[in-house]
Amino acid sequence: MALLKIARMGHPVLLRVADPLPDPTDEALRRLAEDMIETMLDASGAGLAAPQIHESVRMVVFRIGEDRATGAPDDTPRGPMVLVNPEIELLDPPDDVGWEGCLSIPGLRGAVARARRVGFRGLDLAGRVVEGEASGFTARVLQHEVDHLDGILYPMRMHDFSAFGFLEELARAQAARTASPATETA
Ligand code: NI
Repeated sequence: MALLKIARMGHPVLLRVADPLPDPTDEALRRLAEDMIETMLDASGAGLAAPQIHESVRMVVFRIGEDRATGAPDDTPRGPMVLVNPEIELLDPPDDVGWEGCLSIPGLRGAVARARRVGFRGLDLAGRVVEGEASGFTARVLQHEVDHLDGILYPMRMHDFSAFGFLEELARAQAARTASPATETA
């Protein structure tokens, strides 16, 4: 196991459309997934996509913490999970605005409109199909991570740049509000 170097915004690997993986059971892929999980946990992230560690392939890891899940049947604590070649389908319009961070954009948070519910489908490392529906934080994380595979970073989804800034400043300014910027980054 090893901690991997995380690409930061500005590195071209983050703008590339990542390649599909022909064999999810490949042993090298398993090692990469283990390292990605270790790297995500070390950085206190909720998710990490392979392009973020300079591998332009379609694999993501994520975890849903107890403090973030809404508790809905399709938004429960889980993980860390691995999804190979994930695909999502928006089941609601992308109008649920929430704070996001990204391990490739350290220290910053922005408000991004996402769909409340998505359908997802991918493969695990045994090649089995993993599919279902997700809402709440799980749906947001899946949309954020799959965007990484298509070369999209969350600021590219933003409409209101007055809701974009350094977490430290946002937290200070919004301490009195109920919805505080997320403490986890993906
Ligand atoms: Ni990210």
